[in-house]
Amino acid sequence: MLQIEGLEVAYGMVAAVRGVDLTVAEGEIVSLIGANGAGKSSILRAVSGLVRPRGGSIKFGGRELRGLRADQITRLGLSQVPEGRAVLARMTVRENLLMGAYARADREVEADLNRVLDRFPRLAERRNQLAGTLSGGEQQMLVMGRALMARPRLLLLDEPSMGLAPLVVQEVLRLVRQINQEGTTVLLVEQNARQALRIAHRAYVLETGRVTLSGPASELARDERVVAAYLGGHAS
Ligand SMILES: Nc1ncnc2c1ncn2[C@@H]1O[C@H](COP(=O)(O)OP(=O)(O)O)[C@@H](O)[C@H]1O
Ligand SMILES: [Mg+2]
Repeated sequence: MLQIEGLEVAYGMVAAVRGVDLTVAEGEIVSLIGANGAGKSSILRAVSGLVRPRGGSIKFGGRELRGLRADQITRLGLSQVPEGRAVLARMTVRENLLMGAYARADREVEADLNRVLDRFPRLAERRNQLAGTLSGGEQQMLVMGRALMARPRLLLLDEPSMGLAPLVVQEVLRLVRQINQEGTTVLLVEQNARQALRIAHRAYVLETGRVTLSGPASELARDERVVAAYLGGHAS
């Protein structure tokens, strides 16, 4: 579904992504793990058209995405949930969700809204509440629900667990797995490697802009280099 080859992203003199190859097959959850500053967000931003790559290619369903605008990429079926939970604080939960369907002109938006509210009961309870009053976990659910309103085939998630309490992290990642099981392919960026490896099918380890390890998530979770560097020295 997604095929990235030789991707290079730079900000002025700073080379953030240095020749990354990465694939995501339909139906997978693929996780990209790595320390702060490794280049994870830069890869997602390049895929969704928010930064212009310096080199390489990004194909989605065989079609080259480089050179397309972010809104064109969204229309092809690819939605990004950026890090930082940018909800529209002064709008209600329902209004935030409807913003996610702005690129659509079909008549099923209302049905999709109901589907998203079914999937996120905590949002349903708060549908008329201002988004700024939600907890961090609820805001994360809201930005994920908003992305789903665009009916993506591929969902890009950037650090959905960042700053959340452990139980809330579990809940958010359970929802990610559920979204995947209901048919959406997922590329998940996480610093929380333990949790990410638990729900992913495959994973890539990124260090200073390069992929240093990749493979089935269950194997990486036992790999001693991963355990030492990302799992606090203990496999689980
Ligand atoms: N807008 C930017 N301008 C300049 N440098 C940036 C910018 N965004 C990211 N970087 C740099 O690019 C590198 C990779 O950043 P990023 O992709 O955000 O990493 P990660 O998401 O893994 O933390 C870092 O060295 C970071 O400082
Ligand atoms: Mg990041």
